[in-house]
Amino acid sequence: MTLAELENAKAASLAEIAAAQDAAGVESLRVKYVGRNGSIPALIKAMKDVPKEERPAFGKAVQSWRAEVEAALAAKGGGAGSSEKRVDADLTLPGMWRSLGVKHPLTRVMEESAAIFSRLGFTVADGPELEDRFHNFTALNTPAHHPSQDRSDTFWFGDDCLLRTQTSPVQIRVMEQSAPPVRVICPGRTYRRDTTDATHSANFHQIEGLYVDTKPVSLADLKSVLAYFAKEMMGDGVTVRFRPHFFPFTEPSVEVDFTCHVCKGKGCNVCKQSGWIEVAGAGMVDPRVFGFVDSRRKDGAYDPAKVSGYAFGFGVERIAMIKYGIPDIRWLYENDMRFLSQLG
Ligand code: PHE
Repeated sequence: MTLAELENAKAASLAEIAAAQDAAGVESLRVKYVGRNGSIPALIKAMKDVPKEERPAFGKAVQSWRAEVEAALAAKGGGAGSSEKRVDADLTLPGMWRSLGVKHPLTRVMEESAAIFSRLGFTVADGPELEDRFHNFTALNTPAHHPSQDRSDTFWFGDDCLLRTQTSPVQIRVMEQSAPPVRVICPGRTYRRDTTDATHSANFHQIEGLYVDTKPVSLADLKSVLAYFAKEMMGDGVTVRFRPHFFPFTEPSVEVDFTCHVCKGKGCNVCKQSGWIEVAGAGMVDPRVFGFVDSRRKDGAYDPAKVSGYAFGFGVERIAMIKYGIPDIRWLYENDMRFLSQLG
């Protein structure tokens, strides 16, 4: 190509760009002239064939063609890589906002409980959700004919493997591993073959507590610890009352109520006018439970004649529902951000 031909080609290309109708047209001209296989890069590649003395002038002309083509493309809203790179940025717009997220109410109750009990010297213990019969039932003094062992109440996998129906088996595992004194809580998931409705779910959460010592432990110790927990978790004016009950692994056994935190005991719709809300089961560890632990440890550390203790088990959903005024347990599992984000 001579210099004159080059000038003609340049004029033609600029006219073509000026006449382009739309972005697609501009883009195809960009590809045609300055794209990787376009005519200007081809000319640059072919420079080596231009006689030496003409090369500087020719090179200059090619560069100025390229610059003018790019300027013309840019003026048309195109240009090198324009299809990927162009942004219609208004730099005065506010940035993208992402919420930090909030903790799930069940997580909050479990973490807050661990913090409250840790102020009283309790540590957090953990145990498997897939349990065996010994830890979930036998060592908790629950005989084979007890209804909770029934196939219709418990998720069984064969004869000796089940989804734990309560966090109480962690009591046994803790005592198997550590000599007294032990002072632990265990927040965790539990499973029962319940049909789901507003107050039942086949899997739910409990917080187990266990204190065992070689010093005498009394029901008054249990009550004072639970009263402290009630006040810290639900606020001033909330305390506990015990009602006699039965659990195979505690004797005596009690059901634990919190003062209704809404009416502070006066009676309202939330507590069905009673002034109290049931939240936990508890009691003094049955000596037979220590006997089962002793039969495994064989070191006498839990000799029923030498140790005493208390245990309790809270329903986490129950506490979350009363604390945050949640009317339906299913809301806790549906993962609906319209609900969850309100509790942040
Ligand atoms: N495990 C019992 C339940 O699920 C609660 C409980 C725990 C009762 C510890 C007494 C002591 O109902």
